[in-house]
Amino acid sequence: VRRLASSGLARDYEVVVGRGTLADLGAEARRVAGGTAAVVCCDENVAPLYLEAVGESLAAAAYQVSHLVIPAGERQKSLSRAEEMYGVLYDRGVRRTDLMVALGGGVVGDLAGFVAATYQRGVRLVQVPTTLLAQVDAGIGGKVAVDFRAGKNYVGTFYQPRLVLADLDVLATLPAAELRGGAAEVAKYGLLAGGELWELAERLAAGGLTAAGVSEDLVAGCAAYKLAVVAADEREETGARAVLNLGHTIGHAVEAATAFARYSHGEAVALGLHATLRLSRELCGLEEAQEQSGHDLLDVLALPRRLDGVRPEQVCALTARDKKADAQGVAHVLLDAVGEPRPGVRVPAALELEVVTWLTER
Ligand SMILES: NC(=O)c1ccc[n+]([C@@H]2O[C@H](COP(=O)([O-])OP(=O)(O)OC[C@H]3O[C@@H](n4cnc5c(N)ncnc54)[C@H](O)[C@@H]3O)[C@@H](O)[C@H]2O)c1
Ligand SMILES: [Zn+2]
Repeated sequence: VRRLASSGLARDYEVVVGRGTLADLGAEARRVAGGTAAVVCCDENVAPLYLEAVGESLAAAAYQVSHLVIPAGERQKSLSRAEEMYGVLYDRGVRRTDLMVALGGGVVGDLAGFVAATYQRGVRLVQVPTTLLAQVDAGIGGKVAVDFRAGKNYVGTFYQPRLVLADLDVLATLPAAELRGGAAEVAKYGLLAGGELWELAERLAAGGLTAAGVSEDLVAGCAAYKLAVVAADEREETGARAVLNLGHTIGHAVEAATAFARYSHGEAVALGLHATLRLSRELCGLEEAQEQSGHDLLDVLALPRRLDGVRPEQVCALTARDKKADAQGVAHVLLDAVGEPRPGVRVPAALELEVVTWLTER
């Protein structure tokens, strides 16, 4: 088991990463969060798999356990679903000192986290991420939100959990496509951090990307990287948090240009990372061998190699409308080297188009 502690946040917390740790949830929550009642929120896919074990662990630590099961999928991240959940908490007499346990992927983490952040101005939150994406990314860092109209994560806030507990054993039931999507984010962290984390990411890919091949060191390494970035910029004010967007500027544009239908988020991020690697060689002097090892890692993970079904011009029109764009256009995060991200690089429009065009021809 790896235990990480955040430092520098308004209220620090622990991230526990291990195998079989779900059984320890009650004791861990009791130690750091206290409280009387625990409401476990999860979706309909996760409920039959892990709700019972989680409930037993919490009950054994003297929590009064109840469940809040929602349908699966991004559409649940809505104000109307949140309102319904407020009603459940109200009817159950939940207090601020009680626990909301978000058991699931990023959808449940963001939604239950948003409800926990806002109900009575904040009930205690425990994140139990069950997808690879949520374990390395969404479950860490305190961003909680619902979607609003066409805006993803448009209504939300920053709300740190009391505890994050990741059990790698639950990845065994994750659909292969979800595992691959999470692996794209792992590749992102490998490129950002370099060194040991890069090697661990390469090892995961070389082993054929299985749930059993996801190591504690890898997940803990990604989580530690994100925790450190978040501590430097808890509320996304200083710009330090921007590095986490590596591959995402073009990735988000790919998702939008293909109507969120052709590529999953992770697949779009993989395409964005390919483009980022090319741009980094052109603009930041990333060594060709490092660029190539980045492309190779993504290819070995069986993430999409080539951008299909969309004109490069459409993608480039959309990067200019990125949520994080300002008057001078979008600042990309590029790499001087693996492990050395450079945020705030203005990419000339002609070069961006050239690289996205290359992506359609790879
Ligand atoms: N808050 C943040 O910082 C942050 C960061 C990145 C992404 N996100 C958000 O995360 C969401 C995506 O998260 P996700 O990819 O985890 O999607 P998800 O929560 O929809 O989970 C993916 C699918 O896997 C199922 N599932 C989850 N765990 C399982 C398990 N152990 N076994 C079997 N099935 C399981 C779910 O029911 C779902 O069908 C998006 O809404 C995104 O905006 C948030
Ligand atoms: Zn992402």
